[in-house]
Amino acid sequence: MVLLQLITVVGVYSTICWLYDNLRTPLLLLLRSLQQLCLGGQKSLPQTYGPWAVITGSSDGIGKGYAHYLASQGMKVMLIARNEVKLKRVAEEITAKHGTETKIMVADFSQGEQIYERLEKELCSLDIGILVNNVGVINEKPIQLDRMEKRLLWDLININVGAATLLCNIALPAMKKRHRGLIINISSLSSLAPTPYLAVYAATKAYMTSFSLALREEVAPYGIECQTVSPGYVHTSMTEYLTPTDGKKNSLSVRLVKVSDMIRYAGYCIAKVDQTTGHWSHGMQTAILNMLPASLRLKVFTRLYTQLLHEYSETDVKKLA
Ligand SMILES: NC(=O)c1ccc[n+]([C@@H]2O[C@H](COP(=O)([O-])OP(=O)(O)OC[C@H]3O[C@@H](n4cnc5c(N)ncnc54)[C@H](OP(=O)(O)O)[C@@H]3O)[C@@H](O)[C@H]2O)c1
Repeated sequence: MVLLQLITVVGVYSTICWLYDNLRTPLLLLLRSLQQLCLGGQKSLPQTYGPWAVITGSSDGIGKGYAHYLASQGMKVMLIARNEVKLKRVAEEITAKHGTETKIMVADFSQGEQIYERLEKELCSLDIGILVNNVGVINEKPIQLDRMEKRLLWDLININVGAATLLCNIALPAMKKRHRGLIINISSLSSLAPTPYLAVYAATKAYMTSFSLALREEVAPYGIECQTVSPGYVHTSMTEYLTPTDGKKNSLSVRLVKVSDMIRYAGYCIAKVDQTTGHWSHGMQTAILNMLPASLRLKVFTRLYTQLLHEYSETDVKKLA
């Protein structure tokens, strides 16, 4: 009898915790949307946060999607990536489509510490309202840690962890003085559990989530917002490896969300919620994974990525044959 009562209490408590964690964002989103609908008078993003949006890794994929979205909301955009030709093309596209001012900055975040002095000088001349820490890389396919090139290991650390950390450090003093600003940190659903054969990437994303959530609390007293975005699979060059070359779909490729669909949802979440997956379907995947205890989530990820590791090893063997 006592055991049954205990199980019931634990069950009810766990359900409440799960509901709080997983329904908080959709409920807040609904509430803020209703508020705006009823009260009206919604300020634009430049009015709320300041005129310039700086987006790292914005010549392609999700970063490019954010750049277009923010420009469509009246923000001036500063695009940062390595390839000048691609950056110029995206800047021209944005100016032609949204009629907003753009700047580009060529920077390679894999170079680490040495690049930030120049970046700081150039960025400090802008009134940065929104900083989107999007840049990120991943190993081409699942692989054992000891087989990874050391260069790639440093790239994962310098790009996925270093860039966001240093850029927040650079942007925050001016945001604090102006008492306004928004930092959007792009993490990933893979931050939910350690992921064998993608161990470093998943760990960098766990860092992003932890860093971003802590920073949100640090900067809130200064009137600055910090949003954590943790998407599942989005169809970009990063996830190209999931699409079978024969054009058929597999269990993972069907879960890929188009960048435009993700950005429509993630864009709508800006200035409304401090945490989102960036797409409702990724929210559902996260909620389902969150039903599992952490140790079981690790087992699920281990199984999935062990399977992928074998699939890709077989493909490599076939390619060599
Ligand atoms: N795609 C997904 O399924 C997914 C899911 C969850 C989270 N995410 C996260 O979302 C973010 C964007 O991913 P994505 O899929 O959009 O990637 P993507 O399509 O591969 O685009 C990456 C962008 O980063 C730039 N970049 C790469 N290396 C760089 C470097 N060393 N220095 C400066 N810029 C660099 C690239 O431009 P250049 O090559 O010209 O430099 C490009 O603009 C990442 O943080 C990723 O972890 C993605």
